[in-house]
Amino acid sequence: MSNVMTNLVTWIDQRFPMTKVWNEHLAEYYAPKNFNFWYFFGSLALLVLVNQILTGIWLTMHYKPDGELAFASVEYIMRDVDWGWLLRYMHSTGASAFFVVVYLHMFRGLMYGSYRKPRELIWLFGMVIYVALMAEAFMGYLLPWGQMSYWGAQVIISLFGAIPVVGEDLTLWIRGDYVVSDATLNRFFALHVIALPLAIVALVFVHIVALHKVGSNNPDGVEIKKNKGADGKPVDGIPFHPYYTVKDIVGVGVFLIVFCAVIFFAPELGGYFLEHDNFVPADPLKTPEHIKPVWYFTPFYAVLRAVPDKFGGVVAMGAAIAVLFVLPWLDRGEEAAKSTRYRGMIWRIALTVFVISFVALGYLGMQPATPVLTNLARLFTVLYFLFFLAMPFYTRMDKTKPVPERVTS
Ligand code: HEM
Repeated sequence: MSNVMTNLVTWIDQRFPMTKVWNEHLAEYYAPKNFNFWYFFGSLALLVLVNQILTGIWLTMHYKPDGELAFASVEYIMRDVDWGWLLRYMHSTGASAFFVVVYLHMFRGLMYGSYRKPRELIWLFGMVIYVALMAEAFMGYLLPWGQMSYWGAQVIISLFGAIPVVGEDLTLWIRGDYVVSDATLNRFFALHVIALPLAIVALVFVHIVALHKVGSNNPDGVEIKKNKGADGKPVDGIPFHPYYTVKDIVGVGVFLIVFCAVIFFAPELGGYFLEHDNFVPADPLKTPEHIKPVWYFTPFYAVLRAVPDKFGGVVAMGAAIAVLFVLPWLDRGEEAAKSTRYRGMIWRIALTVFVISFVALGYLGMQPATPVLTNLARLFTVLYFLFFLAMPFYTRMDKTKPVPERVTS
């Protein structure tokens, strides 16, 4: 039997670099030995991506992208299709889980300076994935054709109208009509089920190719490739397989417990994952009292509303995302001390204030825009931008600690 297997593998290897790819990216990919739980979220993002694609394919088999039929087809999936409710809840909870996992994955990058030299491209590809993911989620949310799908899309698309000169034509071009309509639903469906998933899968591929070119960072921020043994392997590295494949399964287990708990016991999560208004069919003649996006967009929505002028708000919201792209070049801290472990007090305070601001903006973006809350959103918007814009200065002033030669366990 083992002879047959060896012959088969040799036969394939002569025609396709199977063993080479396996070795380079798993069995002989040396990862730092000090990964902690923050390193679970990359593989979890991959898992959620596969979940979204598979459940999405099965949902598409029963969903109807038609303004007259869409809402009812989702109800049909929920009530009549065998296991349809499970497929839908896996997909809708999966969307929120994707953002939970990606936000934690990005925070890990911030905490350990994984965006810094030589990993700038990993971060940039990550940022493009993040933007594509936001577009994917936004378009997916229109498909159930509920009140919040309809009015959320109406509000967000109309924002483009604030752009001088081309704004109005642009909104018309995006919607394919003067209001959100069947034409909008059809194009969003096409983009949601094929164009964006293809782009995201391709981007994740280059994200990991870039990672494997330079190697993983770690909680110490020490470059393991700088310290190789006589065998040419990093002394602080261990093969990804079996060590981290096995470790990642632990992360997957914990993740699945939480994921299943939400799916089976609280699939709408009190209106955070599926908003209550979205169980009412879209009505172009009746605006819901309180239009707000899903939780993962609310930090940026709060920035938008914090600026009194509509165009100014759109610019601020765009800038809040765009500034993350240039992060690798804003950080002027000492190159070796990239992990927060070896950074000084100023960086620690800045990072804490940033996290508080982001979470506060997320909360404020869900609340009605009262004068007090709007002023609070302004304060946190200023703090959010200060974290980035003042970064070239405070990272240079910050007193770092001595970085060890080798990783600490
Ligand atoms: C579909 C979404 C994504 C997937 C599937 C994904 C996947 C991965 C995987 C498997 C790793 C290696 C394991 C790990 O370090 O955790 C990784 C590393 C990394 N990712 Fe992502 N990622 C995604 C989105 C993002 C985003 C949005 C960013 C940031 C903007 C990002 C930035 C990084 C960085 C900087 C690393 C290197 C971390 C280190 O070595 O310390 N990723 N990613």
